[in-house]
Amino acid sequence: MYNIKLMNKIEKSGIDHFDTALYNISETIENPDAYIVRSASLHNTEFEPSLLAIARAGAGVNNIPLDHCSEKGIVVFNTPGANANGVKELAIAALLLSSRNIIGGINWAAGLKGQPEVTKLVEKGKSQFAGPEIKGKILGVIGLGAVGGMVANAAFNMGMDVIGCDPYITVNAAWSLSRAISKAENYDEIYSKSEYISLHVPSLPSTKGLINKDTIAKMKDGVRIINLSRDDIVNSADMLEAIQNSKVACYVTDFPTDEMLGVEGVIAIPHLGASTPESEENCAEMAVNEIMEYLEHGNIINSVNYPTVNHPRNAKNRICILHKNIPNMLAQFSSLLSKKNVNIESLANNSLKDNAYSIIETNDDIDDALSEIQSYNGVIRAFVK
Ligand code: MLT
Repeated sequence: MYNIKLMNKIEKSGIDHFDTALYNISETIENPDAYIVRSASLHNTEFEPSLLAIARAGAGVNNIPLDHCSEKGIVVFNTPGANANGVKELAIAALLLSSRNIIGGINWAAGLKGQPEVTKLVEKGKSQFAGPEIKGKILGVIGLGAVGGMVANAAFNMGMDVIGCDPYITVNAAWSLSRAISKAENYDEIYSKSEYISLHVPSLPSTKGLINKDTIAKMKDGVRIINLSRDDIVNSADMLEAIQNSKVACYVTDFPTDEMLGVEGVIAIPHLGASTPESEENCAEMAVNEIMEYLEHGNIINSVNYPTVNHPRNAKNRICILHKNIPNMLAQFSSLLSKKNVNIESLANNSLKDNAYSIIETNDDIDDALSEIQSYNGVIRAFVK
């Protein structure tokens, strides 16, 4: 039996994919083989020695200590694209909210409750909440992954002129992008040309404070900025100053921090990007499938700290080895197996930055080979499936 610990409430339709004859699932289970987490922070969690994998039902993994997980041989998965439509729809709403003063108007109208002749008051007072249409305006999209690409296409379909920039764009993402989206050579081109900017980059040391005093200075006066990615991509103090001096007309964030609340010009949404039944179901289902593939077959699909190795099963035994991406690892494994007269049926290997993963398949008995492999310098974790 495998033990799955739920670190948040996870959509039942996803959890139901686990075969209950093989999996125990609960929020308090001991000796977990895997966690499934949504937004709970795991930075101060003491991981059980039994823990092999963590699946995040969502795209961002800034709530998980990735380096620590890599060192311990804990494979971290995410669910890229599974909630992209939910986030895209909120981004389109954010573009409209940043432009038309709908929230201000709604709040004002609510305050008219009980006054005589409300309809007349509405018509008299509404002009204070006018705002421009987005059609024909220039939107710059920074980051053209699953969400950014969808936002670019949807905004174009609503009549915006869209330019996008992503130095790390994947072939699939490029194929998914409408040909009408213009390519910006760099972020500076986005800053200088856009009337609206939507941010779709992950939270990484390299993206921390991407939007700051200097980058804001390169933008058009009255720019509207949408951040449904993570709070630390924008320097809060610099953003507040830019709002105060009207350089930025509106900042919409799905990651409000204390200083952003109650500020005119800031629309603070409580991280609702993926809060749709569809996104929650898709993420839970993808996370569960990733965990099952890894625990049952050793296949790694959509990990953020170990490489993809999705190898069809061809033999009785597979030795799965998480190891450092350094010379001589495969040579050591194969020479040990040949000394033990173990025939290799198939071998799959891949690397991701400092980490690598190998699956070695054989129909022979492995005997004590596993413990020897585990003792090699550079091997982080090894097990048999
Ligand atoms: C994500 O990381 O996938 C989005 O921010 C949505 C979420 O965390 O729920």
